[in-house]
Parts: sequence; C-alpha cells; structure tokens
Amino acid sequence: MLITNGPKRFRVQTKVMVTVNPTLNQLNQRRSVRAFTGEPVKPGDLQAILAATQQAPSSINGQQLSLIVVQDRERIAQIAKVAGGQPQVAGATVFVAFVVDFNRTAVAAEKAGFEQVIPRSAEGILTGAVDAGIALATFQAAAGALGYGTTSIGGIRRNPAELIALLELPPLTYPIVGAILGVPDEERLPQVKPRVPLESFAMPERYDADLVAAGVRAYDQTLRSWWDAQGLDQMPDYSKAVGTAYSTVYFPTVAATMREQGFEFADEA
Ligand SMILES: Cc1cc2nc3c(=O)[nH]c(=O)nc-3n(C[C@H](O)[C@H](O)[C@H](O)COP(=O)(O)O)c2cc1C
Repeated sequence: MLITNGPKRFRVQTKVMVTVNPTLNQLNQRRSVRAFTGEPVKPGDLQAILAATQQAPSSINGQQLSLIVVQDRERIAQIAKVAGGQPQVAGATVFVAFVVDFNRTAVAAEKAGFEQVIPRSAEGILTGAVDAGIALATFQAAAGALGYGTTSIGGIRRNPAELIALLELPPLTYPIVGAILGVPDEERLPQVKPRVPLESFAMPERYDADLVAAGVRAYDQTLRSWWDAQGLDQMPDYSKAVGTAYSTVYFPTVAATMREQGFEFADEA
C-alpha cells in the first residue's frame, strides 16, 4: 500500500509498508529526524524511553552498556563539535551517548574473584557493539512510540578522546554511538528513505551474491529518484556514497582511543 507523508512541498509518494499493526507501522515509517522544535522532552517520557531501552537484551545478561543523557545546552553544543559540527546535534533537545561498559562487568568479575579479559578480544568488542546497537534501536522505537524524533550519531567517533574527557568516561568504557532526541519539526520532517530491495536483503536459506549485486544496481536508481524528489539532486546515489565513505577510514582514531580505554583485538590465534 502506498501512503504519503511529510510536508506538502516535499510530498512525493513513498512506498511504506502499512499493516494493521501499529507497532509495525511505526517501525516501517521510522526515519532519521534532524530538525526539532526545541520543545522539551517531558521528563516522564524520557524516563519511559530510557527504561524501555534498558529492557533490551544483552549478551549473557552482562548489561555491558551505560547511557549518558545530556540535556545541558552548552554540553550538547560541545558534542555537536566533537561530531564534526553537526547542526542536527546542536539543535537536539537531548543527546544520549551509548557507552560500551566493561567497567560494570569488571566490578562484578572482581567481586566474584575473576580477572576480566574479554574487552581485549574481538568477541568482547563485538559483544559491546551488538548490545549497543540493539539498545540504540530500542531507544529509537520507544522514542518514536511517544511521538519523538531521533537520529543515530556515529559522528561522535570522529573525536572519541574529546568525548571521553567531556563525559568523564573511566577505563573499560567507550562511547560507541550516540542518539539525538527531540520533538520533530513537522515542517522539516524527511520522507521515509527507501532501502535495497527486500529480497536482496533477506535471502532464503543461503547468501545470493548475484541477488545482492542486482539489488545494488536497482537501489542506485531508487535512491537517485528519491533524492531528486526531495529536491536534493546533488546527493550521490548509493554506490557513490558508500564508495566515497568506505574508501577511507573516516574516523582514524577509533583503534587508538579504544586501546587507551582498555579495548583491543588481542585474541590469541
Ligand atoms: C550507527 C549509525 C550512525 C549514524 N551516524 C549519523 C550521524 O553522525 N549523523 C547523522 O546525521 N546521521 C547519522 N546516522 C543516520 C543515517 O544516516 C541514516 O540512518 C541513514 O541515512 C538512513 O536514513 P533513515 O534513518 O532516515 O532511514 C547514523 C545511523 C547509524 C545507524
């Protein structure tokens, strides 16, 4: 089913899966919101979003994640700078840092008489990253359910050392991603962004490289038309955007700052 959304001047038809299920409808219509009215996020709503986020699953129930919730305008402005001067961060009402937290598990391990080694392994780093990703998605779904807008902010990894200092993060913690939160400015609400074809994303039984390649070709056209419909014809198609980004290690201090915080791919072969 086709529905339209967004303010009139941007209005184009966007394929959005509409079902009878309100939760699925909300998930299918999620988009990154980068413009906010500046109205407050109600404290009760913020608590409810944080509590729902905390109920996300975590590997071995390790709960190796902490959130730092920033509402001070000056500090949000500093975080916007850390993230490369992103105006959507500066204009957000709340910024939340998703911090991989093996400090908590170190306290627990030590209490039980063990020495924790997992942050110095690929497995540990992946565990922290996966748990943070699940929590981030839960945060976005919970915020959306209450009518708030969010955008994930990976840009904080542009300068992790500054953010670690600003948030006073101890060893064995790392700010892996952030999220901005606020009341969406309906006049500047983006359209839902299309994705690669579903059949080239969710494949039956085994990976099909030809299907994936065909999906890339199709999506280049889909995304091109989508950008053009937003009046943003200077935006690159998928291949060019991804090629440009992934031909450099765009956040080059991540490994060094992770090591400084006690994280390392140091598994024995
Ligand atoms: C881990 C992660 C990091 C991201 N970092 C940023 C960011 O720093 N700034 C930003 O404006 N958007 C950021 N995004 C949002 C993506 O650009 C966005 O999800 C993508 O373009 C798809 O658009 P949509 O979310 O509207 O569907 C990030 C998304 C993810 C998942």
